[in-house]
Amino acid sequence: MGPWTHRHVLDLAAFSLEDYATVLELAQRFRVMPVAGARKLPALQGRLMTSLFFEPSTRTRSSFELAAKRLSADVQNFAPSSSSLSKGESLLDTARTYVAMGADLLVVRHRCAGVPQSLAEQLDQAGERVAVLNAGDGLHSHPSQGLLDLFTLARHFAPEAPSPEALRGKRIVIVGDILHSRVARSNLWALTACGARVVLCGPPTLLPEAFAVFVAAPPPGQVLDPVPERGRVELVRSLEEALPGADAVMTLRLQQERMHQHLLTGLESYHARYGLSHQRLELCGRPVPVLHPGPVNRGVEMTGELLDDQTVSLVEEQVRNGIPVRMALLYLLAGVTAA
Ligand code: NCD
Repeated sequence: MGPWTHRHVLDLAAFSLEDYATVLELAQRFRVMPVAGARKLPALQGRLMTSLFFEPSTRTRSSFELAAKRLSADVQNFAPSSSSLSKGESLLDTARTYVAMGADLLVVRHRCAGVPQSLAEQLDQAGERVAVLNAGDGLHSHPSQGLLDLFTLARHFAPEAPSPEALRGKRIVIVGDILHSRVARSNLWALTACGARVVLCGPPTLLPEAFAVFVAAPPPGQVLDPVPERGRVELVRSLEEALPGADAVMTLRLQQERMHQHLLTGLESYHARYGLSHQRLELCGRPVPVLHPGPVNRGVEMTGELLDDQTVSLVEEQVRNGIPVRMALLYLLAGVTAA
């Protein structure tokens, strides 16, 4: 395992190949642990993880909570609706209140891009030792989801030793509402870093041309790309073009709550063109797994039959893998903040 240098986990654009390898290796150790009978580790005993979720979440919040508990950390959950935010307290002051109570790890989700990063910068400037984990900010980034998707794919291709190498040269199709998806953006950084060929598929309204060069340069504020050579990204408009030769297909939820213009003619016509089904997957020319970060709109992104078919759908496996991946992140960041 390489040395871990990140104080916070905010965006996978900052991850090197060694960082991915470290997370996958550690996650795999935690993933196989229950088999040996050890369900809980003492690693983070006496440490405190606080979740600040300003946007709804089912999987991410519970998964971080369980990950922290499996490492014996204490867990605190912030509920925005019943908090002093409604009395006008700023977000930074809210975060500092929890830091004053002893939070070592802040897990932050917000509907505005950049909030976790700005909190991390301000807390650093104030000399606080707390680590910030981005649990999804606006359309920008969802690093723990990108990592769990990567882990799920790596375990699919190399069950015994999942590593970034397992993704090299694989054709991974991502279909759907890419415009509104922080998951797709994090997956783009992760998959191309590992040398996968990513095929993005969707209508022009949900997949603008700019995505073809999304990973061509690091984001503003970051000078260098830590990955010397990335896999190629291709844009196509139909599944007939995208699926032949695919090694895995990921579909994304239509985020209607973020669609303020009329970007779709209708859910039925979307399903007819971009929905996944057993029949449509035959275009791949071989059996391939299907991923979805959830929550799924049954019958829209994919048929209910496909979602429930455990021989094809890795959706529940993604949920299971979220716990060891988040354990790995908490473990690594707790190590840095303790130093
Ligand atoms: C995603 C999210 O919130 O970004 N869900 C998740 O974390 N598993 C995707 C979505 O909401 O569709």
